[in-house]
Amino acid sequence: MTDIEKKAFFYLGREYDLERGQALADRPTMYDARDLTTHAVCIGMTGSGKTGLGVDLLEEAALDGIPSIIIDPKGDMTNLLLTFPDLLPSDFEPWVNVDDARRKGQTVAEFASSTAQTWAKGLAEWGQSGERIRRLKEAADFVIYTPGSDAGVPVSVLQTFRAPDLSFDDHEEDIREIIAATVSGLLGLVGVEADPVRSREHILLSLFFEQAWRNGEDLDLTRLIEMIQRPPVRKVGVFDVDTFYPEKDRFGLAMALNNVVASPSFSNWIKGVPLDIEQITRAPDGRPRVAIFYIAHLAETERRFFVTLLLQQVLSWMRKLSGTTSLRCLIYFDEVFGYFPPYPANPPTKQPLLTLLKIARAFGIGMVLATQNPVDLDYKGLTNAGTWFVGKLQTDRDKARLLEGMEGVIAESGTMLDRSYLDRLISSLKSRVFILHNVHADRPVLFMTRWAMSYLRGPLTRSQVRQLTRPTQTVAAAAVGQVAKGTVQPQRPSEREAEATEALPPGYSPIQPRVHGRVAQYYLPVRISDMQAAPRPGASGGYYASRERGLRSFLVYEAHLFGMASVLLGGGQGSAQQHAITYVGPMPDAHGLVAWDERPDVEVDSRDLATEPYGRALFGVVPSGMTDVQPYTRLRNDFADHIYRAWQIPA
Ligand SMILES: Nc1ncnc2c1ncn2[C@@H]1O[C@H](COP(=O)(O)OP(=O)(O)O)[C@@H](O)[C@H]1O
Ligand SMILES: [Mg+2]
Repeated sequence: MTDIEKKAFFYLGREYDLERGQALADRPTMYDARDLTTHAVCIGMTGSGKTGLGVDLLEEAALDGIPSIIIDPKGDMTNLLLTFPDLLPSDFEPWVNVDDARRKGQTVAEFASSTAQTWAKGLAEWGQSGERIRRLKEAADFVIYTPGSDAGVPVSVLQTFRAPDLSFDDHEEDIREIIAATVSGLLGLVGVEADPVRSREHILLSLFFEQAWRNGEDLDLTRLIEMIQRPPVRKVGVFDVDTFYPEKDRFGLAMALNNVVASPSFSNWIKGVPLDIEQITRAPDGRPRVAIFYIAHLAETERRFFVTLLLQQVLSWMRKLSGTTSLRCLIYFDEVFGYFPPYPANPPTKQPLLTLLKIARAFGIGMVLATQNPVDLDYKGLTNAGTWFVGKLQTDRDKARLLEGMEGVIAESGTMLDRSYLDRLISSLKSRVFILHNVHADRPVLFMTRWAMSYLRGPLTRSQVRQLTRPTQTVAAAAVGQVAKGTVQPQRPSEREAEATEALPPGYSPIQPRVHGRVAQYYLPVRISDMQAAPRPGASGGYYASRERGLRSFLVYEAHLFGMASVLLGGGQGSAQQHAITYVGPMPDAHGLVAWDERPDVEVDSRDLATEPYGRALFGVVPSGMTDVQPYTRLRNDFADHIYRAWQIPA
């Protein structure tokens, strides 16, 4: 029997016997990873199993050490992070759809339990187990990037338009293409549909980009706005700048871009990791990344803009790679609807997609484009696609368009790809059954996709993405602020001043870190004396004592995260119970994780909290980013969520 773990082959499913209406257990569909370098298209109506197939492909790639970049307009691909090797009901519970449970008349716990069973059973039927899920999780680093939001890993896209790391002399054409798409994306973002050849805003901005990038200068929006107002060039072609594009008209464009900078959400576009494909596709520990770009929360123009920039970055990264015949990286587009339409539509995403389809092969980069809308695909651009996955299509219009698009394929092949047979076949396919046509294989096959290892629960919301990205923090509270843990009472307060500045314990300062006034700060009571602290030199659990030059001890405060909440559990007959919950733990950094579940290392009674330090003291550092209010707002929500989930009404 074929080994489903065969290296460099993707176990996608099993051959499907149409007559018997079942998949054949002894006929696994093993797809040669190299074949993907000629790209694949996946077409089928909603519910035909495209996303499931995509997830299967990406799981297999990860197991084989191949990184992937996933464009996820609907939010379904986030499910790749829902992998539970132990397949426990409690693993599924936070993620099951509450409405589904209700519809089945089950509690969430019951529904989670039956879902866990379904998954375990499904996997077993397809020759897989929790152990395989464990290997998958270990094989790659799964990350959800959220451009324009900090729910997942934020991506900095508007901060800089970095000069490509390519020589202008050797790559003039390529760089021009990058500029054209960047400018189109940018203009799209401010609502200007611009023709790259004829529109003056496009020509002018492209000129600025070219000038800056030729000199190796990065650009940002602020600089661009300045350039529009005071152009660093005198001529555009043979015309004077002011004749070509008069100053008062340029002002309109500058204003439009300025509105982007001034919008409240702009800050979300400039913070985060840079769009550096090398870093995005490799974790610091060397493992491949499964990089999911979640864009479901963005407006249409923002999505296009972001996808354009991302594809451009892929193109510039790719051009520096050496050639290869093996599959090096996968680019998966879950719903390509609107991004790759037929002529005459020409969104800024189309050109980079066409270029990638044309040249990515030489660099070992495989594209997989999925869509439910065959009418919206530019088949001309797909003539080179080597693999077609065709699932169920219902309307005649969709079928006709697909068959027309696949014309070349149909003409040269035999039986299964006979036009009238195909026509009937396509509308009769069951969910998860696809026709696989691969130019590298000798014949087309009908197959059923294997059970996905990831829990396919459907699109996640932004707050679920947040929860998934920072798994150990979950809760909610009335107040989350800082608490400083005070410790050793100074022994000889009067003598301390001079000494303290002479030989401060490392990492402490007599100056208290400044924290935003809206972050509540409290001081814990000092519970041990300096005499008790002194026998334990060094800093431990917040104390600092030193024996140098005689017995010395310092009162030190270290910032900790403090959360306090009161939970009202309503029973029947008005028997409500109130519980006070406190959390004290290490200070996270601005995007850090908080394990709200962990037992606090100090017990806190809110009546003991002071609003001032207990006498003269030294202070530890507050992690950068934690001196501002925003992270605490996020943490407060997390704390509330956690409590909501962790505290159940006793049955
Ligand atoms: N490989 C798979 N393993 C398990 N369940 C699947 C698989 N593929 C699809 N499904 C189930 O079928 C449903 C619809 O499939 P999906 O892939 O989302 O369709 P599409 O993307 O074509 O709309 C999924 O929500 C899931 O429940
Ligand atoms: Mg889908």
